[in-house]
Amino acid sequence: MLFIKSLFLTASFVCVLCENKDGGKAPRLPLNDGNSIPALGLGTFLGFDEHGQKEVKDGEVELPVTLALNAGYRLFDTAQAYKNEHQVGKAVRESSVPREDVYIVTKLASNKQDKPVGSLFESLKEMNLSYVDLYLIHNPVAFTPDEKAYAIIDYKRTWKGMEVAKNNGLARSIGVSNFNISQLERLMEHSEIKPAVLQVEVNLNLAQDKLLEFCKEHDIVVMAYTPFGGLFDKTTESPPPRADDPELVKIAEKYKKSTPQVVLKYLVQRGVVPIPKSIRKEKIEENINIFDFELTPEEMTTLSKFNKDYRTVNPSFWQDHPYYPFEKTDTPAPDPFKRNKE
Ligand SMILES: NC(=O)c1ccc[n+]([C@@H]2O[C@H](COP(=O)([O-])OP(=O)(O)OC[C@H]3O[C@@H](n4cnc5c(N)ncnc54)[C@H](OP(=O)(O)O)[C@@H]3O)[C@@H](O)[C@H]2O)c1
Repeated sequence: MLFIKSLFLTASFVCVLCENKDGGKAPRLPLNDGNSIPALGLGTFLGFDEHGQKEVKDGEVELPVTLALNAGYRLFDTAQAYKNEHQVGKAVRESSVPREDVYIVTKLASNKQDKPVGSLFESLKEMNLSYVDLYLIHNPVAFTPDEKAYAIIDYKRTWKGMEVAKNNGLARSIGVSNFNISQLERLMEHSEIKPAVLQVEVNLNLAQDKLLEFCKEHDIVVMAYTPFGGLFDKTTESPPPRADDPELVKIAEKYKKSTPQVVLKYLVQRGVVPIPKSIRKEKIEENINIFDFELTPEEMTTLSKFNKDYRTVNPSFWQDHPYYPFEKTDTPAPDPFKRNKE
């Protein structure tokens, strides 16, 4: 009996060590395929300006990734569409952190959905790496190679290629992004490997309760993109809260943290993996320093009340595509990607 007890204690101790064996600041969460994912990562998409998607200048993404590696990040979220994979790969290759301790996520471009394996080879070549940790279908909406028109490519077919990528070791795990519940159900009915991860928008304004519940039931980890929602919005467009909201400030002061840190911790305690983007050293460091305090159930409830089911990233300009995943509107927004193509 004593022997079994000590064996159990040793096993649990080893397991606790396993959680942080990558040397990073975030613990790891288990995935349904036996792999694990850091509980927080760095987003790398630079967004849009008046010309469309921002051009990525030399070193503009490489430097934040290097700063983040030094600050204890181990997860990096990139995509073919972000046009920065080469900089992410370079920062990771040139860092003293071993490749096996870093978790790299990339995504299949929407104009290459008919060739997920070929497209992953292109991403790996850009990054000069031999595998990614997670490969996601970026969106169920697909485009023709010249991106000028919709392509109707069934994501079930694309998924077969994602499975090939995993079976050949090019991607350790596979998943999807911007899929809704019925699309996930349809995908799982027809797949041999179920998605390990779903990446969607989750923040104080967009709680995604039903989607999170569904993913929990099916053992799919949710990654939260745009984790700050409208927190830093200088317009009145998105609903409250802003970073100076009195309720947020009160909670932050109690733990001697900033309000963005409280928001990230709230997401982590909901079991999702936030991927805040920052290019500033102090903010990169601030955003990962959230693993030394715990919000109470009452504080979690207070924060949950900010939910308005409001999407910060609302690609309604694609809503005529048959696989558009979100609610439709009478007044679709202008397509910011179009400006690059004009
Ligand atoms: N799968 C998808 O379709 C999809 C869609 C959108 C995003 N994503 C991924 O999710 C990542 C994050 O989303 P996001 O970039 O949309 O939004 P976000 O991470 O919620 O917000 C980024 C903004 O917050 C600022 N910021 C970051 N930390 C801060 C802090 N502690 N205090 C004050 N300001 C702070 C950043 O400015 P500075 O950089 O100047 O610090 C930037 O303007 C993206 O980079 C991308 O990797 C995926």
